[in-house]
Amino acid sequence: MCGIYGFIGEGKVEDLVNGLKKLEYRGYDSAGIAFLKSKNLIVEKRTGKVDALRSLMNGRLEERINAGIAHTRWATHGMPTDINAHPQMDCTKKIAVVHNGIIENFATLRDALTSEGHIFVSQTDTEVIAHLIEKYFRGDLFEAVRVATLDLEGTYAIGVIHADIEDEVIFARRKSPLVIAANDFGTYCASDVTPLISVSRDVVFLEDGQIARLKRNKFEIFENSGKPVENHFYHINWDEKSAEKGGYKHFMMKEIHEEPRVISDALVGRIKDGKVIFEEIKDWNEYIKNIRKINVIACGTSFHAGLVFKYFLERLRPFDVEVEVSSEFRYRNVFVDDRVLNIAISQSGETADTLESVRLVKSLGGKVLAISNVVGSTLTREADRTLYINAGPEISVASTKAYIGQITVLYLLAIYMDQLMGGNHSEMVINLTKLPEIVDNFILTQEDSIKSIADKYVGYTNFMYIGRGINYPSALEGALKLKEISYTNAVGYQAGELKHGPIALLDEKFPVMAIVVDDELKDKMISNVLETKARNAQVVAIVSASDRKVSSLVNDVIRVPDLESYLYPFVVGIALQLFAYNVANDRNLNIDMPRNLAKSVTVE
Ligand code: G6P
Repeated sequence: MCGIYGFIGEGKVEDLVNGLKKLEYRGYDSAGIAFLKSKNLIVEKRTGKVDALRSLMNGRLEERINAGIAHTRWATHGMPTDINAHPQMDCTKKIAVVHNGIIENFATLRDALTSEGHIFVSQTDTEVIAHLIEKYFRGDLFEAVRVATLDLEGTYAIGVIHADIEDEVIFARRKSPLVIAANDFGTYCASDVTPLISVSRDVVFLEDGQIARLKRNKFEIFENSGKPVENHFYHINWDEKSAEKGGYKHFMMKEIHEEPRVISDALVGRIKDGKVIFEEIKDWNEYIKNIRKINVIACGTSFHAGLVFKYFLERLRPFDVEVEVSSEFRYRNVFVDDRVLNIAISQSGETADTLESVRLVKSLGGKVLAISNVVGSTLTREADRTLYINAGPEISVASTKAYIGQITVLYLLAIYMDQLMGGNHSEMVINLTKLPEIVDNFILTQEDSIKSIADKYVGYTNFMYIGRGINYPSALEGALKLKEISYTNAVGYQAGELKHGPIALLDEKFPVMAIVVDDELKDKMISNVLETKARNAQVVAIVSASDRKVSSLVNDVIRVPDLESYLYPFVVGIALQLFAYNVANDRNLNIDMPRNLAKSVTVE
């Protein structure tokens, strides 16, 4: 949520804009930069996306600068206006601050600072940070930032620059990520690794409460007590190309096309002789054998991946699996002991509610296994163990390939756990290894027909998604995708629940997306489809390739490959991603950056 980029060294104005562009998926209602040039602090900002800032800077992009900070915003306090855009400044206009997160005591601080004579111009919580630093500044910027952060409550990642201090830029973090990288041209800091891949693959993540002083040739990190800390480097093996569109119109489509590769990469090194192996958790084998309950904690798409896991594991053996959205879990009186395994799923590893749930579990003495895509993210550092999905950077705000990567790893995990408890699933393991090719072929052959169906339904403003069993989470995820990127009112329901209320909504203007693949619950699904047809609803059914029964009952069908029933979430998930993408594309919407959303939600 919001993106920060900054550097000190050899650079030009355009570097700041380009760095921001790579972070735009984090928030995009306004953007701004501050830089030092011949002892002057220049601040420019504008409502809208990073390209609006680029136009504003047109003619000045090539100007050489020594240091700068930049921000792309997802508004929390104050409307997205030029004044509320970051950087925010102090009264002297010598200090510029960019900030991600929320300062919870900002009103109290602002009142106190106002009574001391400070004048505020924006409605942001960020502006208090600039004035606090001004208050504490005695010639040492690092010290002023350090003391100012002690007054802040809430969450922050901040970057600070001062007109009179030419040789340093300061960054500080509490619960909102910041990463540092350096090369021969300078030292760089950003709110995630994406803009740093071109700087260096070896990066350092700031920890909560730490402050970094960036100089042209070095950087130093300190606790907020002022005590220096040792730098711990993480190696990132993401490919720079993977953060570019590679010929596709949108990142979302590119990322859907990467899904066959994502499945293979999630399987690599984790299968041997028909068995799942997880080096990362092999020292947990005894613990896993004895667990009696699993709590799965996640938000959004990751939550839906967690639900698929529950249904899949229950197929292997009866097991008590509770899947809860993190924003609820963290406020509950949850049961945790040494026979409970807690699994936190988060693509970004930075989602605030998921992190707080993890902290709750750990405070109760529980163990946490993270499933994440981002090496070195906060979740992976706070969890006891991590299984990476290895999907490469996901840029589109709506998650697609990470979801497929998550369910791949979660299937492996379920099989691994059941193996330890005595199960043998070599056939399932073999079937998983065949998936990349099946999925690749499916996307290639069905993409166009899914597009034509989307073209037909683009005019509807409502959609009901229904499924049962392991395909119920797919209904939720399909509806979420359509909502997120096409702004259609799409709801996901257990098909059996339709008659307990939602069926009242249905008529010829309210179509239904029904998942009626060949599995144990197909006949029940057919009955539900007939109920919706009886209310004149148009029905699109997702059916297995060889189906002859459902196609004659419904208006349109999307055919997915014939598979073992437990594998349908993969292809159904992809079919629904393609459907949502094409509806949004037909409406000419900004698919990769839908309104009001952000890629990683680092505020609560
Ligand atoms: C945001 C994103 C969703 C994502 C959710 C959880 O809402 O827009 O796509 O599923 O956060 O993110 P996480 O990084 O924790 O998986």
